[in-house]
Amino acid sequence: MNSPFYWGGATSAFQIEGAWKEGGRGPSIWDVFCDLPGRIQNGDRADVACDHFHRYEEDVALMKELGVNAYRFSIAWPRIVPDGTGAANPAGIDFYNRLIDCLLRNGIEPFPTLYHWDLPIGCQFAADGWMARETAEAFARYAKICFDAFGDRVRHWITFNESWCTSVLGYGLGVFPPARKDPDAPYRAAHNLLLAHGLAVRAFREGGYAGEIGLANNCDWREPLTDSPADRAAAERAVQFFYGWFTDPVVFGEYPEEMRSKLGARLPEFSAEERELVRGSADFLGLNHYTTLYASAEKPERGNDIGPNGNGGMIEDQDVFLSVDPQWKRTDMLWGVVPWGFRRMLNWISRRYSGLPIYVTENGCSWPEPDLASAENDTNRSEFLKEYIAAMQAAKEEDKVDVRGYFCWTLMDNFEWNSGFARHLGLIRTSPDDLTRHRKGSFYTYRDLIRQARG
Ligand code: NOJ
Repeated sequence: MNSPFYWGGATSAFQIEGAWKEGGRGPSIWDVFCDLPGRIQNGDRADVACDHFHRYEEDVALMKELGVNAYRFSIAWPRIVPDGTGAANPAGIDFYNRLIDCLLRNGIEPFPTLYHWDLPIGCQFAADGWMARETAEAFARYAKICFDAFGDRVRHWITFNESWCTSVLGYGLGVFPPARKDPDAPYRAAHNLLLAHGLAVRAFREGGYAGEIGLANNCDWREPLTDSPADRAAAERAVQFFYGWFTDPVVFGEYPEEMRSKLGARLPEFSAEERELVRGSADFLGLNHYTTLYASAEKPERGNDIGPNGNGGMIEDQDVFLSVDPQWKRTDMLWGVVPWGFRRMLNWISRRYSGLPIYVTENGCSWPEPDLASAENDTNRSEFLKEYIAAMQAAKEEDKVDVRGYFCWTLMDNFEWNSGFARHLGLIRTSPDDLTRHRKGSFYTYRDLIRQARG
């Protein structure tokens, strides 16, 4: 039987679960990072977050009302293996068993991600986090525990979420934990993340579990600022430094040529054994996509205020200038609303990695909400969803891109990392005393779009 197109919502453990000291959960690098002064807007912490750990049944009921047939969530490594490397924690396994069973009872297909940034602090202390191959090996042991525990019901596994962010923001720019600022560290961390993915996929395939396994890499589109060969090469290089960095190895077993020639010895090399491990290690490719920037070889005169969230890390290494069109509507995170960039991004992936199915594992937006009416009606988010979903449908129907699912980020307002609770990306508006108010605009728009598409 053919699989249906999957329409889902996406979340992650640290951002929604709360219950940070319950059920035997160990501390993660994000728990500790939140304690550092000035790192998180308003000093917010995710100790309670959306209280999903206790309220998951209500949340699944909301998903059912929304009409999704899939849910992308993440499993917290520190719940399953509290110190990162030691024994499994039955209470942690029990929580995800209950969640998965509840989803399946409601006709919702689980799409768990094994790593959405919440590294057990034990792995950070013992092995310097992703700077060491030991962490990759510990990850593979944890992944195997999950395959054994949930593999009888889960059919779609995602190993890593946005390894670009882990590497660049955590090890290069130092704005995510472990807060390292080192121009070479992102490439080493990325290498170990790719090896971790490869080791987990090997365990999955050798274990004979049913279903598919892939990864969720992020990439915003880079459009050449002009039609000049230099700008076109700059845009291509920028996409290679973003999506190609984490996808070429798992498809072809090598980093993109654009990166190798720019970085030389700063980019680790895959040994023969490592290449064998990572090549061909994705059954599907995930794409987390939010916006588009222009790319040029020379500094443009205007539009280069891409904002602090402009995803422009490693610009010097890429040797690319990034800019926006000042006419673009911009979200609360200053990300331009550019649906045509989404269609081009999907086409780029389809061309470069032909034969591999694609899931849009994240897409969404945040908007300022000065009053209750704008929060509930949220016309901006509704329009965003309509336009981006239409762009995806065009890629799928007209350009024949093999897209198999779409996951809106995010189901409900949650802990938006450095922004704490100040940014609102959810289809459901949450606050500590009012956890379940629909955004009438986007919740019902998304529900209608799903209904139309499913016929
Ligand atoms: C990507 C991340 O995976 C997710 O955790 C985050 O909340 C969204 N983008 C929005 O920034």
